[in-house]
Amino acid sequence: MRVIIEPSAELGSQRAASIVAQLVRKKPRAILGLATGGTPLKLYQELIRMHQSEGLDFSRVTSFNLDEYVGLPPTHPQSYRHFMTENLFRHVNIDIRNTHVPDGRALDYETYGSQYEAMIEEAGGIDLQILGIGRDGHIAFNEPGSSLGSRTRLKTLAPETIRDNARFFGTEEDVPRLAITMGVGTILESKKCILLAFGKDKAEAIAATVEGPVTAQVTGSALQFHRDVVVILDEESASQLQRRSYYDEVEEAHRRLQSGEVK
Ligand code: PGA
Repeated sequence: MRVIIEPSAELGSQRAASIVAQLVRKKPRAILGLATGGTPLKLYQELIRMHQSEGLDFSRVTSFNLDEYVGLPPTHPQSYRHFMTENLFRHVNIDIRNTHVPDGRALDYETYGSQYEAMIEEAGGIDLQILGIGRDGHIAFNEPGSSLGSRTRLKTLAPETIRDNARFFGTEEDVPRLAITMGVGTILESKKCILLAFGKDKAEAIAATVEGPVTAQVTGSALQFHRDVVVILDEESASQLQRRSYYDEVEEAHRRLQSGEVK
C-alpha cells in the first residue's frame, strides 16, 4: 500500500483526481469504479472542474458503482444513482448508458449480483476503483464479518452504519436495512484502488486497515492483498498510524525520483 498524507481533504481529493485524470487521458475507455458518501464529494468536484476547464473527456468512460440501498428507486434523493447523477454524471460528458449503479429494486438479488459481476467482466474489469471507508472499517457495504472472497450480493447494514447514514435520511428509522454491494473479492480484482479517508472519525479504521492484521472484521484490511492500492489521507485520518515517518520518507523518495534528483 502506498500511503499519501496530505495536509487537508481538499489537497487529498486533488491528488486523487489527478490520478483519475491521468488514467482517463491515457486510456479514454477507462473503466472506473465509483463510490458514494461524503468522502468522494471533493474528488468529484475536482473532476468536474477538470472537465469544464481542462477538457477532461469522459465521453468513452464506463463506470460501475460499488453499491445501492435496497428498495430505493433511482429517483429517490438518497439513492446512490441519484447521488451520482447530482454530484458527477450530469456535470461531465459521460454517456449515462455507460454508467452502472446496482439496482436497488432488482428483487432476485442472487441473479442480479451475478449479472452485475458479468457486466464488469465483459467491460474488461475495473481499471481504477475509488473507495471510502466506514468507521467500522467497511469498504463498499462489506460490513464486519463479510467474507473476504465475497462477490456482489445483498448485505445487511451494521447498526453503526445505519447511525452514520441517518444524517442523510433524517432519522435512523428511514435508513434502509439492506444494500446490494460489490463484494470484497470483486474489489480485490480491480486493477488499482484509491482508498480515501478524511477526518478524525476515520483514524481508527485507517490504522486497522493499513497497519492491522488482515481480518474480515475490518474488510478494508483485505486491501493489503491488493497489488496496487493508494491510500490518500488528511492529517486527522492519519493520526493513529504508527509508521507515519516511513510514509513521509516514501513520499520524499518518490518526489526525488520524479524530479530526477535520484538517478
Ligand atoms: P462517508 O462513508 O464517505 O460518508 O464517510 C464512507 C463509507 O461508509 O464507506
